[in-house]
Amino acid sequence: MNPHEKRGIYQKTRLHIQALIAGEDDEIAVLATVAAELRHAFPHFHWVGFYRVVRPGLLKVGPYQGGHGCLTIPFERGVCGRCARERTTQVVADVTRLPYHIACSGSTRSEIVVPLLDVRGEVRAVLDIDSDLPAMFDAADQQELEALAAEVSLVYAC
Ligand code: SME
Repeated sequence: MNPHEKRGIYQKTRLHIQALIAGEDDEIAVLATVAAELRHAFPHFHWVGFYRVVRPGLLKVGPYQGGHGCLTIPFERGVCGRCARERTTQVVADVTRLPYHIACSGSTRSEIVVPLLDVRGEVRAVLDIDSDLPAMFDAADQQELEALAAEVSLVYAC
């Protein structure tokens, strides 16, 4: 897939998501819709889902698409925990070389995790996307997914 094709898919998917969630103030309904649309946007997105901050320092699985995901992740653990702790996007080209990676599936090879921040800058959830192929996420994915995350995070303003 060339960069132009990738951008086009993100643009089409974001417009579709915007239409689907317009006016929706329920977090789970919004996250479930986003997970479903993103999972089917790219063939190499093998797991797409959210982990929600359910209390300070603890993530709990939210809506997702793909094989089972682990139920809870403390901020001290995993790529998701680091994303939540540091409030920054994590792009991992090869999860097998990351000692703190939590492998919900043995087939995962690359991963991107994006924080969802509320208007106060507090992390409310993280968007986790796994691929069974190595190095599938780049700066364009980060930029597009961070823009989508900013739009989805409006649900926390309600
Ligand atoms: N890989 C994540 C855990 C979530 S499973 O991939 C769905 C992590 O290291 O935090």
